[in-house]
Amino acid sequence: MLRRLHPEQPDSFSFTDANLAWALEQIKKYPDGRQASAVIPLLWRAQEQEGWLSKAALEKVADILDMAYIRVLEVATFYFMFQLRPVGEVAHIQICGTTSCMLCGSEDLIAVCKEVINEKPFDTSADGKLSWEEVECLGACTNAPMAQIGKDYYEDLTAEGFRELLEVFRQGDVPKPGPQNGRFAAEPLGGATSLKDKAGEANNGSVALATSIGDTVKRIDGNEVPLWEAPFPVAKMEDKPLPKPVKPKRIIKPAVNKPKPEAVEPSAATDQDKPALLTEAREGKPDDLKKIKGVGPKLEKELNNAGVYHFDQIAAWSEKEVAWADEHLVSFKGRVSRDNWVSQAKELAT
Ligand code: FES
Repeated sequence: MLRRLHPEQPDSFSFTDANLAWALEQIKKYPDGRQASAVIPLLWRAQEQEGWLSKAALEKVADILDMAYIRVLEVATFYFMFQLRPVGEVAHIQICGTTSCMLCGSEDLIAVCKEVINEKPFDTSADGKLSWEEVECLGACTNAPMAQIGKDYYEDLTAEGFRELLEVFRQGDVPKPGPQNGRFAAEPLGGATSLKDKAGEANNGSVALATSIGDTVKRIDGNEVPLWEAPFPVAKMEDKPLPKPVKPKRIIKPAVNKPKPEAVEPSAATDQDKPALLTEAREGKPDDLKKIKGVGPKLEKELNNAGVYHFDQIAAWSEKEVAWADEHLVSFKGRVSRDNWVSQAKELAT
C-alpha cells in the first residue's frame, strides 16, 4: 500500500503538557544514546492526541528524540497502525481482509463500510465521524471476521451486528470489545471443552481491564487515569461491582548514608561566554562528532552549522562556555553538560 504524507498539513504540532511529560518519561526508559527506541510510543501518543500523524507531528517527535526526520518517516510509513491522513473524528475502522476473515465474511463487512461510511477507504463519512480501510491479518483469525477499532478488537462479526456496532460508535458510545457472538475468547464455538472453570471474563484480566478502562477510541490528552490505578484484578463483571482503584503501596527503601551531592549553582551564560567558533573545518576535514555519545547526525549538523567541527574545540570549553553551549548551540537544551561532552571530547581529541 502506498503510504505517504497527506497533501494538506497543519502548520504545527505540539504535545499537550501532560503528554509531553509522559513522552519524556518514556525516553528515560532507554539508555543514553538509545533514545530513538522511544519513537513508536511517542508517535502513538501523538496520534492518540490528534487522531492522525501530520508532518509537523513527525518532525516534533524527531526533534525530541534527536533523530533525522527521514528515520521517523520510515517508521510511520511502515506500520499501518499509524494514520498519515485525517481519519474519522470518532473512529477509524480497520477490517481484516486476509484469508480466514475473507472466508468467514469480511467482504460483507467491507460492503457495510462502503454503504454506511464511504465508498472509498480513508474518506470519512458525510458527518466526518467514521472512516475505514482494509488491512492484513491482525492475528485474531480464530475469531474471524474481525475489525480493529481504536485500541480494541471486535471479533466474530456479522454484517448486521457490525452495522449496529458502527451506529453505536457514531452515537458516541463504545461497544464492548471482543467477540460479538457470545464466546469470551478463542474457545471453540460450542463452548470450552477443557479448563472450564477458568473460562470467562473473571479469568481474563486483560480483556476485563480493557473494558473497564473504556478508552477504545478516546483521544488521549495525557490526563487519563494511569493504568496502574485501573481496577485489577477484575471480578466477574456482570454481577459484581468493580473494586475501587487501589494505588500500589510505596516501597520505602532503607536510608543509605550517601554523601549529598554539593549543590551547584547553574552558571548564567552571557554572550561573553560564547566559545570560539570556526567558519569551516580546518583543512576541510571535520571530526566525526557523532563519536560523542548523545550526538546524532542531526546534532552534528547543528554543531557544524554553528561553527563546531573538532573534538579539541569542545574539549577546550570552560564551564561558562558549556553553559552558553547548553543554552544556545543545539536545539535540545542541556545536552552538552548532561552528556558530558567536554570530557568525552578530551578523550577523543587525544
Ligand atoms: S485473517 Fe483476519 S485476523 Fe487473521
